[in-house]
Amino acid sequence: MEFIPIITEDGTISLYNFSVKDVYHSKIGAYTEALQKYTIPSGLLEFVKHNNEVKILDVCFGLGYNSKVAVSEILKINPECKITINAIEIDPKVLALSCILFDGINNQFLEQTFFEAISKHINVGAILDEYIKDVHKYSPNIDELLPEGYKSIEVLEIKEKLHNIYYQTISSRNTRNREASPVNSLLTINFFIDDARSAIKLINGLNEKSNNTLKEYSHIKSGFCHPDFIFHDPFTPSKAPILWTVDFFRELYRLLDENGNLTTYSSAAPVRTGLIEAGFFIGRTEPIGKKTSGTIAYKKSELLKNFLTEKEKGILETNAGIPYYDENFYSTSEEILKNRELMQKTSGRVSSSKFYKNVMNY
Ligand SMILES: C[S@@+](CC[C@H](N)C(=O)[O-])C[C@H]1O[C@@H](n2cnc3c(N)ncnc32)[C@H](O)[C@@H]1O
Repeated sequence: MEFIPIITEDGTISLYNFSVKDVYHSKIGAYTEALQKYTIPSGLLEFVKHNNEVKILDVCFGLGYNSKVAVSEILKINPECKITINAIEIDPKVLALSCILFDGINNQFLEQTFFEAISKHINVGAILDEYIKDVHKYSPNIDELLPEGYKSIEVLEIKEKLHNIYYQTISSRNTRNREASPVNSLLTINFFIDDARSAIKLINGLNEKSNNTLKEYSHIKSGFCHPDFIFHDPFTPSKAPILWTVDFFRELYRLLDENGNLTTYSSAAPVRTGLIEAGFFIGRTEPIGKKTSGTIAYKKSELLKNFLTEKEKGILETNAGIPYYDENFYSTSEEILKNRELMQKTSGRVSSSKFYKNVMNY
């Protein structure tokens, strides 16, 4: 997977991925999205007013905005709160970049703690060196590829910028005294650098074992993680549905604490029906700007506050509401999309456009 840094509307940095042809954040801003689509609607900040411990699962860590914004906001409200982050990300290169590209919060100690957790698994410096050397190869015509609202950065500027931040931040982080960080004792971060499907099975397995015998994860206690909050942030469902299937949501359901919730930026009909089929009760999160709402999913119906509108519920009954499936848990995105298309052809359900025209009078 290859990507290049770009700028979002709030001025914070995101990435554009050439193989998936997708951006990593909404155009409203990488930082703004993390705050408005995850931290705030999840109810996390209310939760830490009354709890001194919180566990978060960050599915698709990327540049780490969702986890870092959450931790930073939690510490403002409850500086004594013990926080555990379990973060899943498939791409070591994006993890290395997360150590230098994240902006929006100026908290060196937080950055240091994430950097140290990532450095347990990968050689950040070596990966960044390689990336900086090759960055010019990535795309000469980025502007033609970017969706409206995003700004490109000149390749030379990227190179210079990365180089500067790299030497200023990483080299000083490597030499900084670990014990100096006040968040160290409160913040535990575990990284799973893997396909989220394997990682989620592993975490569910670790939870159910009385002894964690897996060497690679021996530092992680068994029974450690029924997260209170899951941040679900994969690439766009219609482009990369593998982490939006009923089968994947079932694993997340199994993992989530009984009183917890899952938030995601997506309001797509197959995502919402997929969550429902996996056992969740779903509601909407407030739209930001002109964008559509996101989704929040609970295991208990009584926790639901923001119900779907009639229009949103109606669309789930149409052809668009057929979810994605990945029964064997190793299908490709193409297979999942093709399978869904076949199901749509034979479903006999009304199309979404007919629904809008006939029922909603659009
Ligand atoms: C939309 S971006 C996430 C942005 C991120 N939450 C942030 O704050 O920067 C999607 C991320 O999912 C990762 N990803 C893609 N496929 C994955 C998979 N099968 N398992 C785990 N991570 C995956 C990508 O490398 C990318 O970093």
